[in-house]
Amino acid sequence: MTLHCEKLSSHMAAAVDGIDLNRPADPETQSELLKTLHDNLVLCIRGQTLAPVAFRDAMARFGTPMRRVQLAQTPECADVNIISSEDRDVQGDGKRLVNGASWHTDDSFMREPCSLTMLYGVVVPSTGGDTQFINMYAAYEALPAETRARIDDMKVLHKYKSSRTNRVAVLSPEEMANMPAATHPLVRTHPETGRKALYLNPNRMEEIVGLPRAESDQLIDELVAHAIQPQFQYRHTWRQGDIVIWDNRCTMHKANADYPDGERRLMHRVIVAGTKPF
Ligand code: SIN
Repeated sequence: MTLHCEKLSSHMAAAVDGIDLNRPADPETQSELLKTLHDNLVLCIRGQTLAPVAFRDAMARFGTPMRRVQLAQTPECADVNIISSEDRDVQGDGKRLVNGASWHTDDSFMREPCSLTMLYGVVVPSTGGDTQFINMYAAYEALPAETRARIDDMKVLHKYKSSRTNRVAVLSPEEMANMPAATHPLVRTHPETGRKALYLNPNRMEEIVGLPRAESDQLIDELVAHAIQPQFQYRHTWRQGDIVIWDNRCTMHKANADYPDGERRLMHRVIVAGTKPF
């Protein structure tokens, strides 16, 4: 199978076409897809038409799917979540709920956060609704040497509901009490590429272990402000049938709800298991 690969920006993200994931990719093609993802951090596979089970099965070739019960699941396949313009904030004002509207990496409150997230654009709006990404290798590498030396061995406590944010928790107090917390390195080494990346999640980081709270808050704020600079970003404009796979171990991302009222945006989402960050 011959894949055509196009770089989507100078520093991250690539798109491939010429593949139909309804049929399992041969081993060479599958390893080429994985290598393209590792080299580019974000991989877009164009032109797919996949029912939920076929989507889950295709993504299972990249890792073991993990079930997320906090998001709506497709009736056909519980491993596939739904992110939709129809989502409503039932605990708040009933307006459109935008999942992932601020910079984050997925599930860092878990001891073994998911490695990859796959989003499939089933219905995309005519304009807007882009997903933005940050290259966290590049953000790390651009830090001054003395900052890298200072933070290289630091650890951060991540919680489902960080006291640093005023985000409204979508879970009940009982569900929250059962949510894990985790301590992760501030700089993690990617287990496949061996490269170091800043591991930040503004939604979940509570504090840097061992620092006075004010110093911890200041350092987190400075590192986040550094990482979200435009030169580290890529903005994905969706085409219907795109599957976008991102590597949570070296990226952050955020959704945009800036598409016209009345237009639909329907995404199917799968995550696959990761390992304990180191
Ligand atoms: C997410 O954060 O997983 C959702 C991203 C999007 O809908 O663009």
